[in-house]
Amino acid sequence: MTKTIRLHTTLLFNMSGACILATLLILALPQRARGQAPQNQISFTRDIAPILQRTCQDCHRPGNIGPMSLLTYDQVRPWARSIRQQVVQRNMPPWYIDRAVGIHKFKNDPSLTDREIEMISQWVDAGAPQGDPALMPQPRTFDDSDRWHIGKPDVVVTLKKEVLVKSKAPDYWADLAMEDLGLKTDRYIQAVEVKPLKGAKVVHHAVAQTRLEDALGNEEQGLLEEYAVGKFGDIFPEGTGRLIKAGTQTYMNVHLHANGEDTMVNLAVGIRFYPEGYVPKHLEQVAHVGDNEDLDIPPNTKDVRTDGYTVLLKPARLTAFQPHLHNRGQAQCLELIYPPAQSGGRAPNETISCVDRYHFNWHIVYHYDEDAQPIVPAGTILHVISWFDNTAGNKSNPDPSNPIAFGQRSVDDMSFAWLSWYYLSDDEYRQMLSQRQKKPAVTTAKK
Ligand code: HEC
Repeated sequence: MTKTIRLHTTLLFNMSGACILATLLILALPQRARGQAPQNQISFTRDIAPILQRTCQDCHRPGNIGPMSLLTYDQVRPWARSIRQQVVQRNMPPWYIDRAVGIHKFKNDPSLTDREIEMISQWVDAGAPQGDPALMPQPRTFDDSDRWHIGKPDVVVTLKKEVLVKSKAPDYWADLAMEDLGLKTDRYIQAVEVKPLKGAKVVHHAVAQTRLEDALGNEEQGLLEEYAVGKFGDIFPEGTGRLIKAGTQTYMNVHLHANGEDTMVNLAVGIRFYPEGYVPKHLEQVAHVGDNEDLDIPPNTKDVRTDGYTVLLKPARLTAFQPHLHNRGQAQCLELIYPPAQSGGRAPNETISCVDRYHFNWHIVYHYDEDAQPIVPAGTILHVISWFDNTAGNKSNPDPSNPIAFGQRSVDDMSFAWLSWYYLSDDEYRQMLSQRQKKPAVTTAKK
């Protein structure tokens, strides 16, 4: 930087008449040499701290899952280069949606803009200057994780047995049994929240799932609610709810990650019901779509593709997407294929979401923004395309020399997406679609 300025000044000196400007520039140099950031230089206090407050501190603070705190300049400074690397690669904050494809608007998107990444990068390259301490924003206050954010639940269940995560235990993935939900009749859920009661700092993810056995012994599984740091439950819009059938049980799919201290973990699910007898107009469904159990993933191979299809028999509004793959998961896309006569002026098919760098460590539910939720006709085919990476280049891969097939264990694999949606009547569908077409939100895939 200084070098270029010097060059320019020499040039200016050679041009008679420009000497005054040159002198001014030279006078400006010593000031820079003293390390005072010029007005336009990116500084921690003014530019970087607000970004970290918004997108990092939910996890990177004492008692939470981030391995270090990123609250103050002194805490952040030693990590500057690592932060640069993590944000440039879009590994942090965890959010792995391909930004070049399909829907761009989500309710829970913590990701950084290109501009923010560029700012962090330039700031680190400039030596990570602190800037004027007076410009430091007020510290964030964090929501109280002890209370229920959905209001007082009608039922709360916890783990049947607390789990001890030893100080140096390896990562632990499991389905943990929960107490009986005690449901004697079918009920509609208005709000649901999952949270750690103990040991939040080792709970990487916790997803409450449901299980119901019918008279023939067939099991129906569903997704109830995920716990994500900084997320405090779901309250469904008035008139929208979920049905939970009598006898349903819940269990908790967890990833626990030791952090150097013996830590007891307990988790709870709280549910608030609609009054008995009340039937919400829209029922939110959460189910597997595009399952493919015919997996054949050769050793030391990547980009292994599978396809799965599910047909929606009624018009619907899609609200959330979560890919489900195991250790060899690499990427997943969700494509909608419309019945030709009813595409409503759209392309015959469009890819609405891809997770292009699947991270087995992170179970993220991508909640579509209200304005972006796809409104789809009856007969729409949900096409789930998954890719697997069974090479040593995949950090989650325990053994690239094994051929992999379908199975329940993490070291086997799976291929499906959890999708949330609610069905619409034909009238509602037409109405919502015409409203939407006045301001289109779903773009056609760019790749
Ligand atoms: C949802 C929680 C969460 C959020 C939000 C988050 N992190 Fe992280 N971060 C983690 C966890 C957990 C790890 C440990 C590695 C892993 O599990 O992926 C980590 C690892 C890191 C590392 C690597 C540390 C090392 O040991 O090398 C850096 C750097 C980092 N985060 C920076 C950030 C920055 C910067 C942001 C915001 C832009 C951010 N993180 C947002 C949870 C989070």
